[in-house]
Amino acid sequence: MSPPTVTIVAFALLTVAVSRFLNARNSVNCIPGMRPLFAPMSLFGAAFGTRWWNPGLNWPWEWRKTGFFNHTHDVISLVPLISGGSSVYTCSVDVARQILAAEGKTQLFKPRWIAASLWGENIVAASGDQWRRHRRIVAPALTPKTYGLVVAETIAVYKEMIEGENWSEDKEILVPDFNRLPRKIALILISRCGFGLPMPWADTPADQSRLTFGKSLTIVTETVISRLIIPTWLYKLPIERFRIIDQAWSGLSSFMHTFLETRKDVQRGDTDSTDEKQRGDILSRLVAAMSTDGKLNLDEQEVIGNIFTLMVAAHETTAAVITATLGFLAIHEEEQEKVYAEITTAILASNAPTLDDLQNLPYLLACFHEAMRIYPAGVAVVRELTDDISIRIKRPIEETMVLRQGTLVVIDMIALHHNPNTFPEPDIFKPSRWAGTSEHDVSMFGFGARACIGRKFSHVEALCFLALFLRDWKITVPVSATETEREMGKAGINGLAFSVGPISLRLRRRK
Ligand code: HEM
Ligand SMILES: *[C@@H]1O[C@H](CO)[C@@H](O)[C@H](O)[C@H]1NC(C)=O
Ligand SMILES: *[C@@H]1O[C@H](CO)[C@@H](O)[C@H](O)[C@H]1NC(C)=O
Repeated sequence: MSPPTVTIVAFALLTVAVSRFLNARNSVNCIPGMRPLFAPMSLFGAAFGTRWWNPGLNWPWEWRKTGFFNHTHDVISLVPLISGGSSVYTCSVDVARQILAAEGKTQLFKPRWIAASLWGENIVAASGDQWRRHRRIVAPALTPKTYGLVVAETIAVYKEMIEGENWSEDKEILVPDFNRLPRKIALILISRCGFGLPMPWADTPADQSRLTFGKSLTIVTETVISRLIIPTWLYKLPIERFRIIDQAWSGLSSFMHTFLETRKDVQRGDTDSTDEKQRGDILSRLVAAMSTDGKLNLDEQEVIGNIFTLMVAAHETTAAVITATLGFLAIHEEEQEKVYAEITTAILASNAPTLDDLQNLPYLLACFHEAMRIYPAGVAVVRELTDDISIRIKRPIEETMVLRQGTLVVIDMIALHHNPNTFPEPDIFKPSRWAGTSEHDVSMFGFGARACIGRKFSHVEALCFLALFLRDWKITVPVSATETEREMGKAGINGLAFSVGPISLRLRRRK
């Protein structure tokens, strides 16, 4: 993300004027915290990157130990001096739960810029009653049937991957940038299981000058944040990278319209022609909502908004955590052997795992959760307060703190999950810390009424893929554990998800 400096400077002047005004409306100064020049989510803040004088987009990761005064403060403020709005951040589970308990009562709001980037109103961006309507339609679209389909398709995609990557005969393989594989798998799975899009492993366009749906979606996902920060006209400049990005955004939009029209025709027509798989998938629910009156209606733009949102929310997140899990298991061989033993008892008999078999993989699930704690893919839970609320904080001293109406609150999922007051020795990969915990304790999917609707979807997908993969391959680090840990640590926002850095892994066929 490094557009020409000249343009940045010009745009800065405008940004400064607008943001000074926004700044003035905020009153979070009394809370100690950071006073950088630029807000992280501003053109300059993002462009300069994370360095000692500029938090940038990646400060929550790079400053995870020190950002909250070494976790001695539950709440801090960030007030930029030149551009961008102020915000309040918390690293405390307890505070997060208190704030989000207000959801539904005082109606916390999602900032509008979230919707602006996501093609129309949708479940992630909407607030208040609008959100309630979207949630009521979208959440029930994920059914046991969907999860059954996820298992079947995961088994299929795993095979396609082995063939597509030419691994069928290999005994030992070195895979650089392993991350691209889970990313591809997760995209294929949400496309097939959610929306009935075929999406083959080898995704080459019929017409070489055009991007495929998969490629467009990947580019769009990768550029959501820049799209928010960089003004649209910049993309019209004759820069190849910008041209491709623009092509991807407009291309994806027409793909979505086309395939929505196709599905509408199918659903309108005689149901016998409908692929059995598609009946009852997420898309069919959304399309059905278009012809429903009243409270459970969605218009076409909202359906597209939700398709896009689900695709984006579903694939980068799950993929990032799958990669992190394999990275940690390669580093921690003893944990991998424990998992391997569990997998062989749970699924070897049936060869292909079933939805029920996945229930018998608690330790693998704990590994997935632990990887997700260290690299929480849902990196920030952001809300605007529509009322003043009081919260009880514990640190630095126990007291009641009032957060004012209009404040932008960020629940910093990285600092929260690296908080030694909640997770002792936060840097150490210790799956056993999740043993015997309840669903309520798994905070990486968010909190309360707006917690993730895809938790089960990602559990099924991840457990099934990891079980198949770890059953067939022993994975090790190519150079050293330290090196792999360092590679993982080059983490950052990828699309809308926080992901581990690109890692290389060595695979050795079992038996
Ligand atoms: C490891 C994987 C995942 C992680 C870490 C994750 C994390 C999260 C988090 C933290 C939230 C709360 C955001 C907020 O309150 O502002 C959330 C919401 C959401 N997630 Fe996920 N997610 C994952 C997978 C998925 C999948 C697979 C889907 C779809 C199939 C999905 C769909 C959604 C949706 C639609 C919401 C918005 C819910 C609402 O606002 O009512 N997520 N996710
Ligand atoms: C946080 O810890 C680091 C090193 O452990 C130390 O140098 C720094 O002064 C501490 N900061 C605060 C605000 O306590
Ligand atoms: C697999 O092998 C085929 C034929 O030899 C080749 O065309 C293809 O590019 C290979 N795929 C990968 C991912 O290496």
